[in-house]
Amino acid sequence: MGAQGARTAGRPMTVPVWRALPNFLRDAHQSLVDAGEAAGGRVVRLGFGVSSPYLVTDPDHVRQVLQDRATNYPRGDDTALWRSVRKLVGDGILAEGDTWLASRKTLAPLFRRGRIDVMVDTMAKAIDEATDRLDGAAEAGRVVDIGAELSRLVCAAIMRVFFDSRVSVDDALRIMAAQEEIVTSMAPRLLAPFTPWWIPMPGDRRFHRAVQTIDGILLPVLRAAVQQPGDGDDVLSTLARAQRDGQPLSERQMRDDLVSMVAVTTETSYVVLTWLWPVLANHPDVAERLYAEVDQVVGAGPVRAEHLRQLTYTQLVLNELLRLYPAGWIVPRRASAPDVLGGVRIERGATVILSPYATQRMRAYWGPTAESFDPERFAPDRHEVETARRNAYYPFGLGMHRCLGEHLFNVEALLIVATLVSRFRFALTDPTVPAPRVAASLRPRRQVELTLSRRDHAVPGRSN
Ligand code: HEM
Repeated sequence: MGAQGARTAGRPMTVPVWRALPNFLRDAHQSLVDAGEAAGGRVVRLGFGVSSPYLVTDPDHVRQVLQDRATNYPRGDDTALWRSVRKLVGDGILAEGDTWLASRKTLAPLFRRGRIDVMVDTMAKAIDEATDRLDGAAEAGRVVDIGAELSRLVCAAIMRVFFDSRVSVDDALRIMAAQEEIVTSMAPRLLAPFTPWWIPMPGDRRFHRAVQTIDGILLPVLRAAVQQPGDGDDVLSTLARAQRDGQPLSERQMRDDLVSMVAVTTETSYVVLTWLWPVLANHPDVAERLYAEVDQVVGAGPVRAEHLRQLTYTQLVLNELLRLYPAGWIVPRRASAPDVLGGVRIERGATVILSPYATQRMRAYWGPTAESFDPERFAPDRHEVETARRNAYYPFGLGMHRCLGEHLFNVEALLIVATLVSRFRFALTDPTVPAPRVAASLRPRRQVELTLSRRDHAVPGRSN
């Protein structure tokens, strides 16, 4: 996508509507990278017709919006993404202002490093047990949809953190299936952010049905937890005991936070890990080093907590995966007062789009090899990249809304990857890396299907 328009003081470069819109509809993700690149990292206005958002890619500007001047850039509930999200999760941790702050105070302690670390062996065991089901597929040479399998493994891993044992795995999987509907049914609105909310669009009905399914499962569990809160340190029990202004939370507050947390945790984690397999198929050198490290550290397994800090190359692979495939690919904000960003005037009410996907793929920040998968970028001895990495890498966001789940993700991702690699080899049905699909998170456009073969040293169903 090219950029046009005079750049006089205070006025942005503008990608004209006849170019911005068709490019965005054809390939939304790449069009953001291209627009950022064409503007040389300056703030650029995307001509989408009625709404012409500003695209912000420069790391300094990103920091200003998300951190230094964060109060001037709330999430706003009139951007397509946040409005859809709010319809699902209501007004809790994913909102703004006092409600958000109260939710953040309740929830943040649950995801601190120390608290997650004591649960690593429980998570490892749950993942190992859930992986047993893949032995049958390996034996039969059956093709599996690895995204679906990963969502099952992520569910197994986080059940304890979230619900203790108050939700069955089957119900958790039904929640995941409903979430799948939600994330994909939002696509028409994300592709047409200029369409007023009151105009019905394809996908709306699926969205509402899926929200009802989630509530149908979670509300009874939540009511039971309120009747008998217990002293568990899982998310549900903590919300059931929490107080705000000396009062217990209302059912609505609890429901909104619980649904928000389930939504952001499971979807993001398994979507990122789904990209790993096509990437490995296209980078045999990376795959070989990954297998070598897991063999050396974990052997035939099972994976345990003490293995994690030795999985240093696996961690580099995950860092690089999050650079090229950040699940939160787009982070919209709304200017609540006029501002000047990088010399460009931003008017009150304007939509500002931040995109970890764009910034993390731009040659302007990552050099000529920006698009290639190279975990070594994150190796401690690559000092020149360190600087870029600190500034132009923000897969978990920045500032006051920074992700609460970064450590949880790292732990569960290391456990899942090490468990799968220690037990299986993978052959993709279609070895090309899929294009991304427009959805609330960065999903592959097609299912990633593969067959598994059991490693020689792997013991079938060893967790039984
Ligand atoms: C690879 C996995 C993940 C990625 C890429 C990711 C990414 C992000 C990003 C970019 C934001 C910032 C949104 C914004 O500024 O508006 C965010 C916020 C958030 N994330 Fe994550 N996330 C991941 C996993 C998780 C997990 C496992 C949890 C579970 C605790 C989680 C919980 C949250 C919460 C609660 C927020 C909102 C925080 C706030 O507004 O104060 N995320 N995440």
